[in-house]
Amino acid sequence: MRTFVYGASGHGKVVLDILVASGTEVVGFIDDGRAPGTVVLGRPVAGGGDWLVAEAPRGDVAVALGIGDNAARQRVFERCRAAGATVISAVHPRAIVAASAQIGAGAVLMANAVVNPEAVVGTGAIVNTGAVVEHDCVVGDFAHLSPNAALGGAARLGELSHVGLCAAVLPCKSVGKRSIVGAGAVVARDLPDDVVAAGVPARIVRQRT
Ligand SMILES: CC(C)(COP(=O)(O)OP(=O)(O)OC[C@H]1O[C@@H](n2cnc3c(N)ncnc32)[C@H](O)[C@@H]1OP(=O)(O)O)[C@@H](O)C(=O)NCCC(=O)NCCS
Repeated sequence: MRTFVYGASGHGKVVLDILVASGTEVVGFIDDGRAPGTVVLGRPVAGGGDWLVAEAPRGDVAVALGIGDNAARQRVFERCRAAGATVISAVHPRAIVAASAQIGAGAVLMANAVVNPEAVVGTGAIVNTGAVVEHDCVVGDFAHLSPNAALGGAARLGELSHVGLCAAVLPCKSVGKRSIVGAGAVVARDLPDDVVAAGVPARIVRQRT
C-alpha cells in the first residue's frame, strides 16, 4: 500500500506525525490547494482529488484524513471511498484506547487522547490532543473533540459537531448534529442540532446557518 495524508495544512501535518510515530511509511500528501511537488514536512504533494481518482483504482492507495473542517473531511472521505482508496485511521502510539472501544475508519486519535471502555468514535471523527472520551460515549461521524476537551461518561456528540478547546460535556448529556460548542464551555443540558453554544454553563448564542 502507498499511504498518503489527504490535506497538507496544520491538521494534516499532525496526522503525518502520528502515522510516522506509529511506524507507518508515508509517501506524501494529497492536497487540492497546493501544487504537486510542493514539499511539506519533507513529504511531497502528489496531487489533488483528480490525482486520487486516477491512482486509487490500482487498489494500492491508503489515505488518512488530514482535514480539520468537519464537512470538508466528510466530503474527502466520500471521494476517497468512491475512488477505491482505503481510508485508514491514525492513532498516536501514546493515545490510550480501551480494548472495548470502537474506532471508525478514518478517525484520528492524537497524542494523550483517552478513549475509555465501550466508547464509540465514529467514522472520520477527531479526538484531538489530550481529549478524553469517557466510557460509553458516542462521538458521531466526522465530529471533532478539540485539544483537552472532554466528554463525561455516556455523553453523546452528534455527527459533524465540534467541541472547542478545553470544553466539557457533562456525563449523559448530548450535543446534536452539526453544532459547535465554544472553547471552555461546559455543556450541562442537552444541545439540539445546528446551534452554537458557549459559556459556563453553555448557552445557545446562535443558530448555525
Ligand atoms: C464560541 C465560538 C464558536 C464563537 O465564534 P464566533 O461566532 O465567530 O464568535 P466571535 O469570535 O465573533 O465572538 C463573539 C463574542 O463571543 C465571545 N466569545 C467567543 N468565543 C467564546 C467562548 N469560547 N466562550 C465565551 N465567549 C466567547 C467573544 O469574546 C465575543 O464577545 P463580544 O461580542 O462581547 O466581543 C468560538 O469563539 C469558539 O470558541 N470556537 C472554538 C474554537 C476552538 O476551540 N477551536 C479548536 C481548534 S483545534
